[in-house]
Amino acid sequence: AAAEKNGFDHFMLKEMHEQPQAYRDTLSGRMGEHGIVSLDELGMTDEAIAAIRAIHIVGCGTAYHAGLAGKGALEKLAGLPVETDLASEYRYREPLVMPGTLLIAVSQSGETADTLAAVREAKRRGALILAITNVVGSSLTREADHTLFTWAGPEIAVASTKAYTTQLLAFYMLAIHLAEKRGVGERGRLAELSRELQQLPDKVERVVAGSAAVQTMARRIAQAQSLFFIGRGPDYAVAMEGSLKLKEISYIQSEAYAAGELKHGTLALIEQDVPVVALATQPALLEKTASNVKEVKARGAYVYGLVMEGHEALEDTFDEVLTLPATDPLLAPAISVVPLQLLAYYTAVERGNDVDKPRNLAKSVTVE
Ligand code: G6P
Repeated sequence: AAAEKNGFDHFMLKEMHEQPQAYRDTLSGRMGEHGIVSLDELGMTDEAIAAIRAIHIVGCGTAYHAGLAGKGALEKLAGLPVETDLASEYRYREPLVMPGTLLIAVSQSGETADTLAAVREAKRRGALILAITNVVGSSLTREADHTLFTWAGPEIAVASTKAYTTQLLAFYMLAIHLAEKRGVGERGRLAELSRELQQLPDKVERVVAGSAAVQTMARRIAQAQSLFFIGRGPDYAVAMEGSLKLKEISYIQSEAYAAGELKHGTLALIEQDVPVVALATQPALLEKTASNVKEVKARGAYVYGLVMEGHEALEDTFDEVLTLPATDPLLAPAISVVPLQLLAYYTAVERGNDVDKPRNLAKSVTVE
């Protein structure tokens, strides 16, 4: 087993370190002419793409969180209305599947029962199905009309890392591809994003290599009874994933909150020394997030900020800052989630937990 872990203490650590390569593999061969991402491999005709009127996204757990981040990118670039649902909710909520609905099912394993059931329900209602999955030949690929593979390689740790981040890349590529084919959005912008995507592997490599700062942070977080992750827009989607990761393996109670929503209730839970992880990677939302940080600090919270290089001016807002390699704000989740994965990992190790096999959880859930 030690050999399988390639010298790493746990599969999760190995898989986090594999992310730069997983990014490269997932992006590889998916660049079209004019330097714009192309997914012609999906086999979706131009007519089929032009006929899309709405997108529904379903998934469970981490895959659902990828779908929340994916929604933002698809709406912004492809200009289509997008809803993201938990597969187990979608299935029973009698979803309104209008003509021209594309359902995107996200699943690392391609075997999650709730996700497969949601796909069948959407199909019955007339949706076209696109799968985003990591497993060739999985049940989901057989149910779907089209499949977009993430090339993350096998993921063993129950807590998903490289599968989630490559799902983000799949969404970004899909959003660019649909925008290009539908003739919406400026081609220069799509080319710029395509270029930025190619730079993500090297940037993530830097984040993984710089994990010492996160280890220090983990020693303090490991003592906490509870904590919060806050953010706006894409940062909120990442906050949810960071919080889930931490709960899954450290067993510390944690909540993800939209930063602007704190004052409507959760602020009541902020007491002296409660750790708050504030994601602040979105230039357009920085001022607002900074004022939310002031709200929690005024109540005694100890705030860690995640900011992109170039926004160091914000440093005074936080008690401690982790600076991330800068990228286009739209793509920031593919970088900012990585320190949160590392944080969950090192916190769980600090607490002596079985990182790769957290209690009560299974890698793949094939019952509904
Ligand atoms: C299980 C795992 C989660 C995962 C979820 C969905 O609950 O413990 O980590 O996110 O299933 O799995 P999938 O294979 O569909 O992405």
